[in-house]
Amino acid sequence: MIELINKLEKNRTLTLDEYETLIVGRNEEYARILAEKAFETKQKIYGNSVFIRGLIEISNYCKNDCLYCGIRRSNRKCERYRLTKEQILSCCDEGYPLGFRTFVLQGGEDSHFTDDFICSVVEEIKRRYPDCAVTLSLGERSRESYRRLFDSGADRYLLRHETADKEHYEKLHPANLSFDNRMECLKNLKDIGFQTGCGFMVGSPCQTAQTLAKDLKFVETFKPEMCGIGPFIPHRDTPFAEETAGSVELTCYLLSIVRLMLPSVLLPSTTALGTADGFGREKGILAGANVVMPNLSPWDVKGKYELYNNKLTGGAEAAQNKAELEQRMESIGCKIVTDRGDFIKI
Ligand code: 5AD
Repeated sequence: MIELINKLEKNRTLTLDEYETLIVGRNEEYARILAEKAFETKQKIYGNSVFIRGLIEISNYCKNDCLYCGIRRSNRKCERYRLTKEQILSCCDEGYPLGFRTFVLQGGEDSHFTDDFICSVVEEIKRRYPDCAVTLSLGERSRESYRRLFDSGADRYLLRHETADKEHYEKLHPANLSFDNRMECLKNLKDIGFQTGCGFMVGSPCQTAQTLAKDLKFVETFKPEMCGIGPFIPHRDTPFAEETAGSVELTCYLLSIVRLMLPSVLLPSTTALGTADGFGREKGILAGANVVMPNLSPWDVKGKYELYNNKLTGGAEAAQNKAELEQRMESIGCKIVTDRGDFIKI
């Protein structure tokens, strides 16, 4: 195991079997060693800075029916909302003075959001705040659509691959969603020039050490600029309501591995990690993450973007409570910075 960890640190690559061994053979001591190396690697590139992103959840309408997700189409209990352009812009107006220099527009796959609409929002954000980055996270769209969004000024795009194993993908998604199309979308995003984020859930139903090893291999070869990794947490109104949640420890272990394979990747300590554990965000940062994404959505919709049970909305999760987040980061020797927090190419 120690040899594998050293090999990963040195070569930034392992074989599929070696990743699997690293996952199966984990224990507290190895997790500590990996986290120390990952934290050190992050420090060398980004210092003790933690980047913040203002997350604006623009719509919870979704045409998809992913089995794990609380805003899936067939969840009739989900109270749907959609923000107007003006509402989205007021979130940015609120976030800018708080120090946010990246705005993330995230939403379900809502057909109401035409390219024209999204482009006009991106253009207006860029006009008001030319020093800010805009990240989009709006699911699968055509290559032409991605191209138009990029040309309107969007800098980054987040689209988790969810799992790099085709059979596993099919167990988490209905038949009309395809693994191949997901991969095609990611390739298109990167080709077009977005700083691109992929990512996966930890502990999703039917996940194994082997499928996780494939996730690691995919991340290693795809070389995303960003990678979102969080524990799966069941949602009461989904087919996975009775499944068990993913572990915080394994999530942190995987964050450390990803930091070692891609030293300058932008790695968020996710809301799911903060939801699963009161000290989750701090644990993620200590394991090598360097980004947090507090929520800037309007107060009246915050609770409605419920991807999983008890998703955090208050405390350090709310962008308005930046002081609490700052304090939490300082307690582990890190500092929130007012910066776009772009990917550093090394
Ligand atoms: N638990 C954890 N993460 C989830 N996501 C969706 N549903 C859940 C859940 N039940 C994640 C997916 C998606 C991202 C926006 O949220 O990975 O890509």
